[in-house]
Amino acid sequence: NVATSYSDPVHIAVIGGTGLQSLPGFTHVATLNPTTPWGAPSSPISILHHPSPSTGAPLAVAFLSRHGLHHELAPHEVPARANIAALRSIGVRSIIAFSAVGSLAEEVRPRDFVVPDQVIDRTKGVRPFTFFEGGMVGHVMFGDPFDAGLAAVVRQCGHSLEGEGVKLHDKGTIICMEGPAFSTRAESNMYRSWGGTLINMSVLPEAKLAREAEMAYQMICMATDYDAWHTSEDVSVEMVMGNMKANSENARRFIGAVLDALSAPEHAELIQAKHLEGQTKFAGSIT
Ligand code: ADE
Repeated sequence: NVATSYSDPVHIAVIGGTGLQSLPGFTHVATLNPTTPWGAPSSPISILHHPSPSTGAPLAVAFLSRHGLHHELAPHEVPARANIAALRSIGVRSIIAFSAVGSLAEEVRPRDFVVPDQVIDRTKGVRPFTFFEGGMVGHVMFGDPFDAGLAAVVRQCGHSLEGEGVKLHDKGTIICMEGPAFSTRAESNMYRSWGGTLINMSVLPEAKLAREAEMAYQMICMATDYDAWHTSEDVSVEMVMGNMKANSENARRFIGAVLDALSAPEHAELIQAKHLEGQTKFAGSIT
């Protein structure tokens, strides 16, 4: 019996994909169905509880499934504005986003994890990508698209699991393409020549909208395939899903470790994104 409301603000959210519906050691305490001026989010938001290892106090985490509860939303159909606005409306100020990605670099092997530090936008302007329109004119800095504070915690947690089968790369440039078809071999090679390390269809506009809403955002990527440049085998949905599934236990443990670390009192200001407050005039009106 799970509640349908939750009164305290929840500061941390995980946006997950396939294989990340539950987290070990977390209890499902509420399911929320917020609506926003941009419509309903991809899925109901689950509120999960877990005792913080450092304080024993319950840590609440909001969980949202980017592609819907049954993976029914293609990347270009994800209601990213509704997702970010819905999370913000329940108090979320920091987001750990998870994504399956293709690898553009030999050293990033399928099932490796990467904490990307840069993004190149190859979406096609089809997806609504900003809150700032219709008279609300705003600009945010996006030179560093991810949050350095969250990234540092994520890297440390990933490395702490290295003895247990988690292989982590500390940085990488992620190409975000429109999809849903994967890239041609020529495109894949071009992205490599641009310095791309990874490719997915999900980091944008999610990361931009989070920044507009003054939320700290870091993506954790898991390579599920070598993209088309690699002549070993062509990327297929079966390959992506197969590797995702095979490694989902590691992904869950990784995210669990990150949430444990973020619940420590020393990270209270980080998870409330105090460092981002006041960057835009409008963030407070995005709900
Ligand atoms: N997601 C997982 N693998 C991918 C690939 N090769 N290209 C784009 N998105 C992906």
